[in-house]
Amino acid sequence: MGPGAVILALSLAAAAAAEPPAHFLIQDTAECYYSPGGGGGPEGQLEVRFVYRYIYDREELARFDSARGEFEAVAALGEPDARYWNGQKEVLEQNRAAADVFCRHNYGVYEPFARKRLVQPKMSITPAEHDSSSQKTLLICDVAGFWPSGINITWLRNGKEEEGTKVMTTDLIRNGDWTFQIQVMLETKAEWGDVYACQVEHPSFPTPARVQWEPQSDSARSKMWTGVAGLILGLVFLGLGLIFFLRSKKGDVLPQAPVALMS
Ligand SMILES: *[C@@H]1O[C@H](CO)[C@@H](O)[C@H](O)[C@H]1NC(C)=O
Repeated sequence: MGPGAVILALSLAAAAAAEPPAHFLIQDTAECYYSPGGGGGPEGQLEVRFVYRYIYDREELARFDSARGEFEAVAALGEPDARYWNGQKEVLEQNRAAADVFCRHNYGVYEPFARKRLVQPKMSITPAEHDSSSQKTLLICDVAGFWPSGINITWLRNGKEEEGTKVMTTDLIRNGDWTFQIQVMLETKAEWGDVYACQVEHPSFPTPARVQWEPQSDSARSKMWTGVAGLILGLVFLGLGLIFFLRSKKGDVLPQAPVALMS
C-alpha cells in the first residue's frame, strides 16, 4: 500500500466521523392525481391516485402509492420506516382510504372553481411597426386574461388563414392570478382594402371569436381628420350659439332685485 492510499483512507474516516448538519429538513407530501376513468362519465368515473412521500433534505426515502397499496422504501435509509409503517394496521388502513376520503373528497371541493373555471380572453390588434422601405407591418394580436390555458389562435387575411414564417407567437404567459396571456404576431404587407382578423378558439367561447383590423390609407386617414376637425368646429359654434341664446333669454326674464328686503 503506498502513502497515497493511506491519506485517502484517513480522509474517508474523517468524513464519516463528521458531525451531522445542524439544520435538516423533513417533508411529508400528499399528492392527488385525477384522471378520467373508463366510460367518460361524470365524477363517479374519476380515477384517483394518492401518493404520500417522506423526504429527508432533498432525498425521498419512502412513499405510499395507492396503486401499490403499501409503503415502500425509495432509498436505503427509508427501509426501516417503510417496514415500521407497513407493520401498523391503522396507518396502512388510513393511507389506503386516503384516495377516497382525502383526494376524491377534495376534488368535489375544488372542482367548481378550478376545473369548471372559464374566463374569456380580451382580444385586440395593434399594428406595431411599419417599415416603409419594405411596406411591411407587424400586427400584434394580444389575447389576455383567459382560463384555462388551452387556446388556438389563427391569423386570417381576407378570410384565409396565414401560416408559416409570417406568424410568430410568444410563450404562454402565466399571470399568476389564474389567468394566462399570449401574443401572436403577423408580419404582412398590408394593402388598402385588406381585412385582417385574429381568430381565437377557447372553451369560454361557444364559437370562435374574432377581432378585425383594416389598414388605413393616407387619404382615408386625412379624410378622417378632416371629419374630426369639422365636428369639433361645429361643436364650438353650437356651444357659442347656445351661450348667446341662453344669455339673451336670461335678459328677458331677469327678476327684479328684492328692494323691499334691503331696507
Ligand atoms: C385546437 O385545435 C385542435 C386541433 O384542431 C383541437 O383538437 C383542439 O380542441 C383545439 N383547442 C381549442 C381550445 O379549441
